[in-house]
Amino acid sequence: IRIYVPGDAAALSVGAEATARAIAAEARQRGLGIELIRNGSRGLLWLEPLVEVQTPQGRIAYAPVQAEDVRALFDAGFVSGGAHALRLGDVEQHPYFKRQQRLTFARVGLIDPTDIEDYLAHGGYRGLANALIMQPAAIVMAVSESGLRGRGGAAFPAGIKWQTVLAQKAEQKYIVCNADEGDSGTFSDRMLMEGDPYTLIEGMTIAGIAVGATRGYIYLRCEYPHAKRALEAAIAQAHARGYLGENLLGSGLRFDLEVRLGAGAYICGEETSLLESLEGKRGQVRFKPPLPAIEGLFGKPTVINNVITLASVPHILAQGAQSYRDYGMGRSRGTLPLQLTGNIKHGGLFEIAFGMRLRELLYDVGGGSLSGRPIRAVQVGGPLGAYLPESQFDTPLDYEAFAAIGAMLGHGGIVVFDDRVDMAAQARYAMEFCAAESCGKCTPCRIGSTRGVEVIDRLRAGDNAPRQEALLRDLCETMTHGSLCALGGLTPYPVLSALNHFPEDFRSQPTARAAAQ
Ligand code: NAI
Ligand code: SF4
Repeated sequence: IRIYVPGDAAALSVGAEATARAIAAEARQRGLGIELIRNGSRGLLWLEPLVEVQTPQGRIAYAPVQAEDVRALFDAGFVSGGAHALRLGDVEQHPYFKRQQRLTFARVGLIDPTDIEDYLAHGGYRGLANALIMQPAAIVMAVSESGLRGRGGAAFPAGIKWQTVLAQKAEQKYIVCNADEGDSGTFSDRMLMEGDPYTLIEGMTIAGIAVGATRGYIYLRCEYPHAKRALEAAIAQAHARGYLGENLLGSGLRFDLEVRLGAGAYICGEETSLLESLEGKRGQVRFKPPLPAIEGLFGKPTVINNVITLASVPHILAQGAQSYRDYGMGRSRGTLPLQLTGNIKHGGLFEIAFGMRLRELLYDVGGGSLSGRPIRAVQVGGPLGAYLPESQFDTPLDYEAFAAIGAMLGHGGIVVFDDRVDMAAQARYAMEFCAAESCGKCTPCRIGSTRGVEVIDRLRAGDNAPRQEALLRDLCETMTHGSLCALGGLTPYPVLSALNHFPEDFRSQPTARAAAQ
């Protein structure tokens, strides 16, 4: 009897460990031989801990299962898919799951992330096998033709980045994976690394072969200990089986990989600070140019991509560029694993082709707000993303469509707020966040963010409001144009979107809404 209980951090945070222990103990007591697999999360986070049982009719899910539910589940014969109030049936037929187009997350939650055999049995390493018989330029071409753009947030074409590195002459090149997922409301990198670490490892190996890099580093935030364990175990197995190291699958090519931990600074997610940190220095932003693709880690040509970008590569090499390109709209090709969080009924991971409208995602997929109150604002793209009011909910989830309304999709984090949110407080928070996380290298960000907090405070206090508002807009313009990196440069997005779309919250007291609360 095979039973799946997620070992994913989100599931663990709501009791999955106790559930797993209770299942093991109950089975022992009843003399039932079970195989307990700690899979990744299926992404329906409001239903965690979501337990699945392998039955002759397929995998049957029960959710949410707390330790105290376990005895009754055994009594109801759940090991053979028996009826119970918590029985969900086939999770892949659940409307939330069925609507998705899972390419990058195809195996997350399905397989045992600790078992390379399970990865291979589900199509793993087919992309690498294909890459090993291709010329490097052909691999880069496939990535270009797929239309894959950087999923960390900036959406730069991955193929162009790889081509730049391929074109450099150097005795050493590197592949660096940015796994410092620092955006508020995002967790797709974590879920992927915990639930299907081999996909990332395979993607990095393909990148290495494509550009002629023999070493790779995964720069992982230290707040992700479960991902670290999953990655290190997978790297060791891949080495033992010839999928990493010298003479990759007998090809004569080499690729080594290791995990390095960050120390918890948001700015170390910015690519050049990340490289500084990886070199053992203080995480401070470097001037660009030179681009990392030309002078990156230890001054060598470096491909630096986000987890999801690299994890999308095995599908492209296994199924062909066109099969990826067929998804999406306009210049946004493929799928984006969206992360629905905040005040939303059905929060979780939802991978879909670009083009779905935000409103559909919020209401049809997400089920509306958790509180049952109207959704007033949505922040898309992390703490530096714009706040969208209801009038913009029909915007399709597409890089260009978002740019056209002064917003950004970023890393796909979507944080929902109901009508009790104070948008002036949110704007203040954006400035405060920038002040706390600024690396200090340039003045508009280092000083501007602190001044920004003060100006917003005076504006909210009604202290010569027109002048404060003009000052705030002027400061935002200086930060946008004068900052060296995205932290200072994008902080005006949340601030100005809040000010432009919710001006009433910046008047001295939001009395009407305060009364409504
Ligand atoms: P960017 O637009 O400066 O660069 C994008 C990427 O393209 C970089 O890797 C850059 O080196 C590369 N590039 C540009 N021109 C190139 C060329 N000709 N050849 C080769 N490579 C080239 O953007 P940046 O500063 O790297 O990222 C900003 C984004 O990061 C924001 O849009 C934001 O959404 C996102 N972000 C994501 C976070 C997360 O947790 N995932 C956290 C904070 C910000
Ligand atoms: Fe550092 Fe801020 Fe300047 Fe970026 S914008 S380089 S974080 S001071």
